Amino acid sequence: MRLDKLLSNSGVGTRKEVKVLLKKKYVKVNDQIIKDGSKHIDPERDVIKVKEEIVTYQKYIYLMLHKPSGCISATVDKQEKTVIDLLDQELQHYKPFPVGRLDKDTEGLLLLTNDGELAHQLTSPKKDIEKVYYAKIKGRVTSEDVKSFQEGVILDDDYQAKPAQLKIMAQGEISEIEVTVTEGKFHQVKRMFEAVGKNVIYLKRIRMGNIILDHSLKRSTWRELSENEKEYCLSLKSGG
Ligand code: URA
Repeated sequence: MRLDKLLSNSGVGTRKEVKVLLKKKYVKVNDQIIKDGSKHIDPERDVIKVKEEIVTYQKYIYLMLHKPSGCISATVDKQEKTVIDLLDQELQHYKPFPVGRLDKDTEGLLLLTNDGELAHQLTSPKKDIEKVYYAKIKGRVTSEDVKSFQEGVILDDDYQAKPAQLKIMAQGEISEIEVTVTEGKFHQVKRMFEAVGKNVIYLKRIRMGNIILDHSLKRSTWRELSENEKEYCLSLKSGG
């Protein structure tokens, strides 16, 4: 890969900042000063230094985003703001994409990565990865609904949803629930509630597999996954 791309992808600076570093002769490849950002680099073999400090190349990024309502789970869009627009330019160089989708009006945990294999493992229907949502529901959610969810409700296209665990947190004109599903069909949770004659008025994802939305992450902000969270991701990739 190109030296300038490697440097900006490794968090050394923006493309523009990297250009300046190269021009000022701060960058060495295998102890030779290199000013040409287009030089081809083998990240596995070449030793890159900036101001005498070794740069470690990071191929993949793993981010936890607290998605706000009002942006879409896509990488680019002509009209709508996307979840990728919430990231800094430097991170966008890694070309991250969302792992699965949340609706425009859904908030909460969204993983962003450029690791296609991990995204596949987390979203593959065969893997049964649990996704937990908190929701406010118009109407009184009952133990009958809990039973229906356990059995697998029939959606509007006659598809029978996989069994889901429904926990009632507050019952009333507006109920509060937590639901655990293991699939990710289009509008899954909203359609599951429609199947029992109720409407979701607020939806937030709070867990995906072992990864729990960090309480301290404000809406529209993100952080890198912790070492433990990354380990969990790697275990999924190695079939664990
Ligand atoms: N289910 C939905 O209905 N919407 C989402 O965004 C996620 C799950």
